[in-house]
Amino acid sequence: MESLKTTTITQLEAPAATARPTAPPASAAVGLATILLVDSVDINRQLIKGILKFGPYRILEARQPNEAFQLLEQADVDLIIADLVMPEISNDMQGGLEFCRRVKANRRTRLVPILILTSVQGNNNVIASLESGADEFLIKPLQPAVFRTRIRTMLRSKRTLDSLEEAETIIFAMAETVEQRDKETGHHCQRLAALSVALGTALGLPEDDLLALYRGGYLHDIGKIAIPDSILFKRGVLNEEEWLVMRSHTLKGEAICRRMRSLAPVLPIIRNHHEKWDGSGYPDGLAGEQIPLLARILQLADIYDALTSRRSYKSAFSADEAVAMLQKEAAMNWRDPELVSVFVEMVRQPNFVAHSAALFAPDPAHSDLSSREAAELQTMRESLARMSREVLK
Ligand SMILES: [Fe+2]
Repeated sequence: MESLKTTTITQLEAPAATARPTAPPASAAVGLATILLVDSVDINRQLIKGILKFGPYRILEARQPNEAFQLLEQADVDLIIADLVMPEISNDMQGGLEFCRRVKANRRTRLVPILILTSVQGNNNVIASLESGADEFLIKPLQPAVFRTRIRTMLRSKRTLDSLEEAETIIFAMAETVEQRDKETGHHCQRLAALSVALGTALGLPEDDLLALYRGGYLHDIGKIAIPDSILFKRGVLNEEEWLVMRSHTLKGEAICRRMRSLAPVLPIIRNHHEKWDGSGYPDGLAGEQIPLLARILQLADIYDALTSRRSYKSAFSADEAVAMLQKEAAMNWRDPELVSVFVEMVRQPNFVAHSAALFAPDPAHSDLSSREAAELQTMRESLARMSREVLK
């Protein structure tokens, strides 16, 4: 039988006012899921620890929400078990709801699942807890077997989320490698993401489309990782065979990202960002509105950024020159004319990226995005605000 694997964080005998919780080093608990108990009643925490004592868990304890927030800053917590009653936050029965909202509002902790416990019956509490960000809700007295099963299930979901996040991190790292291979394009992906999202915002697209554009800025050319340097960096004109290889970066990129279900909205951008309005582009020869809108948006941003950036073979064009060239391409029926008009109008506004970043008011009631996507949206907002200061100044 396994030994007891719990770690008491608070000095339970010491006065609460002087006890500053400190998480033990994670190295002491490698492989254990970390659970944070938040309950002001000592006996309640002891009871839960008793139920979980043979599980592979590292248990942290907090008497009060402020202790819990300190521990969340210090440790990578996998699950929070909290009582609905938190008089330190609110004198009514709703303190736990505010606690959930604060955990979910923090970028570092918003993906940590929360199990709310209470002895107060009533569907209203269940609904209010779930709407405040709690992931599960149990009414005391606890059934130990049900409680343990619920904990295992929640931790399994958290592990899946973690591994998905790792996989996505790897894919984005690959995209970064592609960008770094070409020393001339510094910050191209960041600028592209900013320009695309700004245009998407100007068009009034929903948040999930903006998220796809943001990701597309980084991932659209990921297929170039499979293109040999001899072709990618060839000076001079590519022959027909080399062009075929070069063009395949769209399909190779799509193949790399296809296995990640969460990247599905980005696939049309990766595959179709080299189509042309008259149908003469690649890889599918799509024409007009057959070309996915997000791909058309990213394409304009891509062209504009390439024109306004300096390369070894050309100096940077001014914004006015780049606009004129885009309009010329629209007149040649290569680009979506209406989209070019909106884009031109947008880039002529001063500080338009900062303006678009400011338009993303957080919308906690938005139900279409997962908490993970909502976290990325927040990253996107911060990234855009930073880019508007540093990259596009
Ligand atoms: Fe491309």
